[in-house]
Amino acid sequence: MSNRDSFSSKFGILVALAGSAVGLGNLWRFPYLVGNNGGAVFIILYLLFLIVICLPMMITEFTIGRRSQSNVFGAFKILSQGKKGKAWGKIGFISVLSALVILSFYSVVGGWTVDYITQSLCFNFKEGLDYEQMFRYSSENAFRPLIFTLVFLLLTALVVIMGVNKGIEKYTKVMMPLLFVMVILIAVRSLTLQGSNEGVKFLFRPDWSKFTIDTVLAALGQSFFSLSIGCGTIITYASYVKRNENIVRLSTETALMDTLFALLAGIAIMPAVFAFGLTPEEGPGLVFVIIPQIFSQLPMGGIFAILFFVVLFFAALSSSISLLEVMVAYMIEEIHWSRKTAVALSTALVTILSVLCSLSLGVLKNVSVLGSNIFDFMDKLSANILLPVGGLLFVLFAGWKMSDKEYFDEITNDGNLKFKPLFLNVLRFIVRFVAPLVIVLIMLVSLLK
Ligand code: PFF
Repeated sequence: MSNRDSFSSKFGILVALAGSAVGLGNLWRFPYLVGNNGGAVFIILYLLFLIVICLPMMITEFTIGRRSQSNVFGAFKILSQGKKGKAWGKIGFISVLSALVILSFYSVVGGWTVDYITQSLCFNFKEGLDYEQMFRYSSENAFRPLIFTLVFLLLTALVVIMGVNKGIEKYTKVMMPLLFVMVILIAVRSLTLQGSNEGVKFLFRPDWSKFTIDTVLAALGQSFFSLSIGCGTIITYASYVKRNENIVRLSTETALMDTLFALLAGIAIMPAVFAFGLTPEEGPGLVFVIIPQIFSQLPMGGIFAILFFVVLFFAALSSSISLLEVMVAYMIEEIHWSRKTAVALSTALVTILSVLCSLSLGVLKNVSVLGSNIFDFMDKLSANILLPVGGLLFVLFAGWKMSDKEYFDEITNDGNLKFKPLFLNVLRFIVRFVAPLVIVLIMLVSLLK
């Protein structure tokens, strides 16, 4: 294993992890789910899941990845060696599948960001335009979105070909801080728009009549999606992390950063939605309709718009490379393909599915899978089913297949890091009982409703 790629600095790991977590999930998916699911109620549930379930799960994925030093498929094979139950080795399959499903619609949205970069470069965002129609043109047209999706996928492939150290680490270091500054700027502008108060209330004042099992499932799914849990990205990245890093601290910092971004994105978008007299239930187009509208009313808005969409694109890219890396690491280490072949084949596979996702918003609008178009189906299938099921299997494995000693040895770097026994016991309890029960219960209730 000594010739495996690895991150060269702690800051590098943190930005790569944060780069995977922070992405379209925060800036595109979170605001529109908040809009569709009644605002504050959704946010409260989301935060609850994040702290109680997702953070312990993130630490656990870290444990599995760094201990095995292997891709998501090999990790379970290696860690279950010498123990009964060979079937555990197959868990990785769900992860590779979720990465594929997520990338298929994620790259379409990534394509929209490329499209909006080109439009902002032409200074197309002027006051008084119909931005809903503009978005429909960009997303429903048969060819336009396909071209941009392809550009997005090719760029993702290019970074992944360069490998972990030179590709992923280098460029996320620059982009994450820039993204942060941009979102704060937009949030400030949004809050100072006339009529923004209603948006703030919508975000922070819960209306419990909106509480339904669908809201609970959506919040659970979003907390997984946003932190990149349940799909093996953390396991894969953790396998490139050196043995002396503090994985509890790294996980907590990543989760904090991701949550901050999601809340900031909510504050950037929702007040503006109300100020412009739009409805929060706009759906997947929300960010693409609202942001150009904000910029069209700002002095030097044209320049800000370019910056924003460039940064949004990079946030999307750092997440999509983490998804592609899950598939690629598996193909390199399990099927023994070269990195180039693995990247080429997995990108080709994703392209086929993403073409279907993109067309399902226009030409194939009437094709429905279990009541949703293909795009929405892929989105819900991954966030509400594949990620929670993947995460469930990870915690069951770590909680019941790995011994307490193995688990704690990895977290404490073989006893070199000191944690309060209470913290370790609560963590282990959540991993063994609370997380699996909560996930199973929510999924069952939403299935049976
Ligand atoms: N967390 C990413 C986002 O919020 O955009 C999306 C994502 C990346 C989900 C990687 C799952 C994953 F494994």
